[in-house]
This record gives sequence, C-alpha cells and structure tokens, in this order.
Amino acid sequence: MRKVFVTGGAGFIGSAFVKLLLDESDDWFITNFDALTYAGNLENLTGLDENRHHFIRGDIADRDAVTQALENDCEAIVNFAAESHVDRSITSADDFLRTNVTGTQILLDAARAKGVKRFVQVSTDEVMGSLPEDDASFFTEDSPFAPNSPYAASKAAAEHLVRAAHHTFGLDTVVTRCGNNYGPRQFPEKFLPLAIANAMNDQTIPVYGDGMNVRDWIYVEDHCRAILAVMEKGKPGRVYNIGARNPRRNLEVVQSLLDALGKPHSLLRFVTDRLGHDRRYAIDPSLIEAELDWRPRETWASGLAKTIAWYRENNRWLENTRSGAYRDYYRLQYGTEVNAS
Ligand SMILES: NC(=O)c1ccc[n+]([C@@H]2O[C@H](COP(=O)([O-])OP(=O)(O)OC[C@H]3O[C@@H](n4cnc5c(N)ncnc54)[C@H](O)[C@@H]3O)[C@@H](O)[C@H]2O)c1
Repeated sequence: MRKVFVTGGAGFIGSAFVKLLLDESDDWFITNFDALTYAGNLENLTGLDENRHHFIRGDIADRDAVTQALENDCEAIVNFAAESHVDRSITSADDFLRTNVTGTQILLDAARAKGVKRFVQVSTDEVMGSLPEDDASFFTEDSPFAPNSPYAASKAAAEHLVRAAHHTFGLDTVVTRCGNNYGPRQFPEKFLPLAIANAMNDQTIPVYGDGMNVRDWIYVEDHCRAILAVMEKGKPGRVYNIGARNPRRNLEVVQSLLDALGKPHSLLRFVTDRLGHDRRYAIDPSLIEAELDWRPRETWASGLAKTIAWYRENNRWLENTRSGAYRDYYRLQYGTEVNAS
C-alpha cells in the first residue's frame, strides 16, 4: 500500500478527494488528519473502507501532533486543511494565519524530517487577485501574486513557503490553484449551497453588490481528479492552474439554480457588497490539460444537476450543518435569521 497523508479531509474538497482515491484506486492507504473545525464534518466520511482510511483528529499548526501522526514511509502529503471562507477572514484573520501559514510551514518541516516524497499544496486562484471586468484576460501560472483578502493573502503566503521549501531544501513540491468549487458536502456558508438551501426553504438568497462578479466554477470531483493527476504526474516545483473554462456571473449562477429548482427569481435579495470584493476570476487551464492530459468530466448543467440532487436527497446533512453556530454566523453576516423568509 502507498501511504498518503491528507490534511483537511473532513471538509468539502478534502472529503471528495478521499472518496475519489478510495473509489478509483486500490493501492493507497489514507491517513486523514483534520482538526474538525466548524467546517469539518465526520458525516462527510461515513461508509469509508476502514482498511484503507484512518482518521486522526489533529491540528496542522500543532507541531507535536503532526510529527506524531505522520509516518516515515509516506509517499505524499496533500494539504487541504485551511480556513477557507473570505468573509470570515475579513472579520478576523487570526485563524487564517495560524492554520494557512504556520500550519503549512509545520507540514513542510515534517515532510522534510520524515522523508515524505512529495508535498501537494492545494491553493486557490484568489492568490492572483482580480482580473479586469471588461477584457478577456485569464489567470495563467505566471500571473503575478495580488491577493486582495486576508484569506487570499494567507494562501499566497503558504504558497511562498512551499516554493521556498522546494528551492532551499529540494523538497518535491507541487501547487494547484483552482477556482470556485461546487458539489456535495459544501458547508452552507458558501455561495452555492447557501443559495440551494435557502431556495429549497423558500427563503431569500443574499447576493452581494450588483451580482455581476465573475467566478470560474468547477465540479468538486473534477478538481479532485486534477489534484490526483498533479500528485501522481506533476513536475516537481510546478504550479498548475485548474479550471473548467466555466466563468459565470453570480447573478446568472443563482438564476440558473432557481430555474433548476422551479423557484421564482423574486427570492433574490441584493445586499451590501463584501469589502474589497474581487470582480472577476477566470482560469486558463492549458498547462494541466497539455501536460497531464486532464479534462473536466462535468459540464455546468450536469454538475449543477448532480449538486442539487445531492442536497435534495441529503436534507438531514444540510439541516445538521445549518444548526448551532452557523445560525450565529448567518445573523452576523446577513442581518437576518437563517430561517427568515
Ligand atoms: N472551496 C473552494 O472553492 C476552493 C477553491 C480553491 C481552493 N480551495 C482550497 O481547498 C482547500 C479545501 O477547501 P474546502 O472548501 O474543502 O474547505 P473547508 O472549509 O470545507 O474544509 C477545510 C477543512 O480543513 C480543516 N481544518 C481547518 N483548520 C485546520 C487545522 N488547523 N488543522 C487541521 N485541519 C484543519 C477543517 O476542519 C475542514 O475539514 C483549502 O485549502 C482551500 O483554500 C478551495
């Protein structure tokens, strides 16, 4: 068995990656190391093959815990663990610096100390800032760093540390930069599951500003397949942009979702814009397509249909995650109750 140490594997994308690895290969053993913050959910990991998946609750910013959990003969670390929500980073950046920056450095140190063969850093297109609205430019791997939110800045800092570990110590590292993911098991503070949950409950859907911000959407499993390709075949030291060539305005995203759910557009509610809100992201995935022969399998229509079907069939998951602390967060962010119509 080849061993892989996955961090943040109880979250949205990490759990999809763990499932993909177990479903589509038979020679990986996964240690899943996750602190179970508000975004981590053990319900995301039910029914996994216990002979090939071991969960450890632990914090990547805790050096001793990482050293203890990471075995010597590990092929790869795949680092998903992060504070991942821009709005929360605007409220306070503390946890973002601790996990996204210090945590990444601790993992890099541990990788070197334990002789891990490859370090995969899961990063974001947001490190490259915002593109002009009125042109056809795209993010490439050579686009300059220009992070605009505390979240993006912490992810950019993490990338710099990964680059430094490669350059200074010769650690085999690869970085992936992806756009907005959608799919099953996404914490409902994020745009798409929030919109789906509210629409299913006939509640208004808050849309920031004029709703014309552009995000490049990708189905989560397509992102995970790309990470797997990078982990197995990526060139040491390389950065790979990952995108499905699917940039869309937020307004259009909510409208197509309401149409798919058979709900009226009157559920849309424009709210005060996010501070420093990036206007447009669009990714050029030519490098990963050409070098690693990766392509997304889902179209926007097929991915959205799968996503909506999952939330419809998993109402209990949705209601569990929308209870408790999420209610306090929602009230603070949008000034209304989760269940307000
Ligand atoms: N969601 C997106 O659209 C998107 C796009 C591009 C890149 N990314 C990146 O992908 C990764 C995963 O994103 P996600 O959307 O699944 O996030 P998420 O918030 O759903 O999950 C994050 C996971 O990390 C865990 N975690 C947080 N702090 C930790 C710590 N200190 N130690 C160990 N575990 C910790 C949480 O418990 C949770 O399970 C992140 O690194 C994010 O920056 C996300």
